[in-house]
Amino acid sequence: MWDDRYKGSDLVWSAEPNIFLPPLVEGVTAGSALDVACGEGRNAIWLARQSWAVTATDFSPVGIDKARELAGDTQVDWVVADATTYEPDTTFDLVMIFYLHLPEDQIAAAFERAVAAVAPGGTLFAVGHALSNLTDGYGGPPIPEILWSKERIDPYVDGLDIIELGERERYVEAADATALDLIVWATKPR
Ligand SMILES: C[S@@+](CC[C@H](N)C(=O)[O-])C[C@H]1O[C@@H](n2cnc3c(N)ncnc32)[C@H](O)[C@@H]1O
Repeated sequence: MWDDRYKGSDLVWSAEPNIFLPPLVEGVTAGSALDVACGEGRNAIWLARQSWAVTATDFSPVGIDKARELAGDTQVDWVVADATTYEPDTTFDLVMIFYLHLPEDQIAAAFERAVAAVAPGGTLFAVGHALSNLTDGYGGPPIPEILWSKERIDPYVDGLDIIELGERERYVEAADATALDLIVWATKPR
């Protein structure tokens, strides 16, 4: 399904990073980062251009090919991998997940892998469409079972120090509408 969506030359997502990413790393010393389910790579590419050493994964080879093309000369380690099973052979200063919506057992596995990939003292930053977005927001998949809520995600980040676990508004200019995202921002104890 994702390979089909990524076929063709047009971008499915924007080339710009998610609006919450630049302020997250502003003033932070560049380090290593893993972008899980990177799609066409907008966040990975932007971060790599800020001097971070980025590994980016997606299970769609077509998406990864487009990301590689979009990156041009920008160096990113692109990996075709399933987020529910991928075990990198290193840990990262920053692990990011943007808009990965999966049934419960799969999102649990993806978070387990993502948390394991965070280095001690490192950061997990994940953004998903909030469950409340269905009724009070804009866009996103209309499938309540795969949308994110604080209650649903909270067990997956057990053991991390939570900085933020809650909703943020995101203005969608093309639709002049406001979407509701769930933000998961946490650090791993040293
Ligand atoms: C809504 S897109 C978001 C893409 C990107 N994170 C962004 O924000 O631009 C969801 C992405 O998750 C990927 N995906 C879905 N299930 C996956 C899985 N089990 N393992 C890896 N990637 C997956 C899809 O291929 C797709 O690229």
